[in-house]
Amino acid sequence: MFPYSFPAPANFTFPGSYAPAGDASFRAGPGSISVIPHEGGFFRLSAALGRDNDEQYSAAELLVAGQAAPATSRFGDWHIWEQGDWCLEVNPADGMSFVFRHRGVGLVSSAPAPFGYSARRQMVLLRRDPQAPILGLGEKTGRLDKNNRSWHFWNANVISDHRFNYQTDAYDPTYVSIPLMISRSGDRWFGILLHNPTPSSIQLNLDTRNATDKFSACHGMRPEDKEPISVLTVEQGRLDLVFIPGPTLRDVVRNVARLTGTHELPPLWALGYHQCRWGYSSAGEIATVARRLADARIPCGAMWMDIDYMDGFRVFTYDPERFPKEERDRCFAEIRRRGTRLVSIIDPGIKAEEEWEVYRDARDRGLLCQTPEGKVYTGQVWPGRTVFPDYSLPEARSWWADRIAAHLATGIDGIWNDMNDPSTGVSEQSEMWFHHSTLSHGTYHNQYGDLMARATLEGFEKADPNRRPFILTRSASTGSQRFCAVWTGDNVSNEAHLRMSIPMCLNLSLCGVSFTGPDVGGFMHDTTEELLVAWNLAGALFPFFRNHTCSGTRPQEPYNFSADALDTIRRAINVRYKLLPAIYQLFRDHALHGDPVMRPLFLEFPEEYLEGVDSQFLLGPSILVAPFLDVDSRERTVVLPSGWWYSLREATWVKGPDLVTVPRDNRMNIYIRDGAIIPMVEGADFFPQPDLSNVAFHFFFREAAEATFVYHEDDGETRAHRDGAFNEWRVDAKAAGGRVEASVRLVHNGWTPRKTPFKAWFHGLDGVGAREGLAPWPFGALPGSWSELAP
Ligand code: GLC
Repeated sequence: MFPYSFPAPANFTFPGSYAPAGDASFRAGPGSISVIPHEGGFFRLSAALGRDNDEQYSAAELLVAGQAAPATSRFGDWHIWEQGDWCLEVNPADGMSFVFRHRGVGLVSSAPAPFGYSARRQMVLLRRDPQAPILGLGEKTGRLDKNNRSWHFWNANVISDHRFNYQTDAYDPTYVSIPLMISRSGDRWFGILLHNPTPSSIQLNLDTRNATDKFSACHGMRPEDKEPISVLTVEQGRLDLVFIPGPTLRDVVRNVARLTGTHELPPLWALGYHQCRWGYSSAGEIATVARRLADARIPCGAMWMDIDYMDGFRVFTYDPERFPKEERDRCFAEIRRRGTRLVSIIDPGIKAEEEWEVYRDARDRGLLCQTPEGKVYTGQVWPGRTVFPDYSLPEARSWWADRIAAHLATGIDGIWNDMNDPSTGVSEQSEMWFHHSTLSHGTYHNQYGDLMARATLEGFEKADPNRRPFILTRSASTGSQRFCAVWTGDNVSNEAHLRMSIPMCLNLSLCGVSFTGPDVGGFMHDTTEELLVAWNLAGALFPFFRNHTCSGTRPQEPYNFSADALDTIRRAINVRYKLLPAIYQLFRDHALHGDPVMRPLFLEFPEEYLEGVDSQFLLGPSILVAPFLDVDSRERTVVLPSGWWYSLREATWVKGPDLVTVPRDNRMNIYIRDGAIIPMVEGADFFPQPDLSNVAFHFFFREAAEATFVYHEDDGETRAHRDGAFNEWRVDAKAAGGRVEASVRLVHNGWTPRKTPFKAWFHGLDGVGAREGLAPWPFGALPGSWSELAP
């Protein structure tokens, strides 16, 4: 895969007409295309042109049922499939050109004769509003809008594959392949999933009228394509194009989650602050870091163990000298006493060493990836000569799961899957085949991380089916959120990567990957105090929040910096802990409805002027976060969408739409939407862990007349909530004449009865019953007035 070249339409063959072949299939010479409506307004076009392309290699199931069905009606040469407001029209006489419509209005269509092939490659040419933004595409560099560029989908090991430009914000591809684009026509949003896991590309707006950019525009277009086209190409297997209905962006995002799945409710500890670094060299050192964090009054959800804990980088082992069992048990117990958990890295690569039982066992059972001729494939990773489990085999996943279960039993709470792009070092990957040498590298390359996560999840379930898993992966593909969280891999300690982390995680979130975040502080190279502080102030409200850095860089734990810096970082971490009940609720909403935890502003406020805003984000519907991203600038501009916003820094209301300039200081820059009800931990002591039995609802009211909020609480650890073991409280608030009246009632009673009544804080109201507060939020005396809400 060469990152700077792309398939050229000029080199593909495009059948000009198709003949009906059954109710919903159309045939042209070497292949056929079927039309498959999926319930709820989704449609799939499934193309198998070119050579041997009948197989669908994706392990990601489409979770919305679909079945080939005859067209609902005909109009001239057009065959029309309708479902409610949505329809797909196909014209076999014009080479299967198509239009996807909402209430009669075309949202996206094709060029004439849009389906092409070249040996096993297949291509489809779209016509869309060339000005409309393109969102999604999974984990990509650059700004939020992905339009006017060409993108590859090939899970890369960024630092080695982009060794000359990984410090920029413009390399492609990254570790994750989700060829899912979200766009609009006018104000109607839709999505298109390229449901094919093999190496693929999406080239947006190739345009002969804009032929000056010889690297992308007009590249290899057909003479007949006079208008801008977007070109989607896959390397092999069925080209399944799934049209996802809107019409709002929120509808599209929920439908993406319906189609490809959501992340289950994580254990609460996983939503806290995480401390990691490559280079913690002994169990004692990890315990010391945990102790120093505690001494610095920094709550910590988990301590992480990078590859240093292993014996010669042999997976599932501990170094006998640096992590001997007794010492390990003692250190783990000490860490755990403070409420902190342990996560360990697990790479897929197995050291190829005859004396080692894990290697022999995997090899003898035939569970390793092989060359096309059936030799065990060998790469070069941390342990030297390295072999790789073939996770495409269910028996290999099950074997891996047994090993994971045993590893968890050593006192591990979460698993971090890395190098699963897969990284093979200097060994060429194309010789690494799957499924007992029957399937080429491309069929599973992009799915390797996904299948590894499935095997790991199976391991959690073998260990204890009632325990909530926590799995973090570097590489992923469509639908991986069902199995794991995704961090954005090896970033760099620079401002460009701090800034880029917002659009990158927003687009992942729109693609269903809600549990995501960057290495806070930056991974490669030394961070600076200013950058680390800025990154914590921003990163504390990402869905996943972990400080991590590379071996050999300067120490990056917060207590290694000045007292001021430590204080600021501690306060940022405390803000996260204060908001933990709200964040937990957002994860619950994601699991139930597919709403992303982190959102672009225009998901809540569908206004065109907000579409370019990607230096701010919303945490849920009501918490607007506008971090300081330029380390040197003394102020920043904040775009406030329409309505009133309560500035937590100033304890005052600001009216949007507006651009406000805020001077920089060391406080987080957070605004709360008028009418928001936000659950927070009461008080400001989160050490060692916050007391979640002590929760207050914070009401932010200015002009909003009423609001409702549903608060979910459970044990935070097990899957018993799936069987109803949770409480759900409905909070209702009505405001009039400067007064807010609130009530709370138990609407689902399935868990331990609550002993502590909820408190209520009222912010920003004039008049009786509430005051504007002046104290800096959320420490010391809280602004506003409070009362107890009797359940
Ligand atoms: C990879 C990971 C990084 C980890 C390192 C050593 O580069 O992305 O997070 O620290 O390997 O395991």
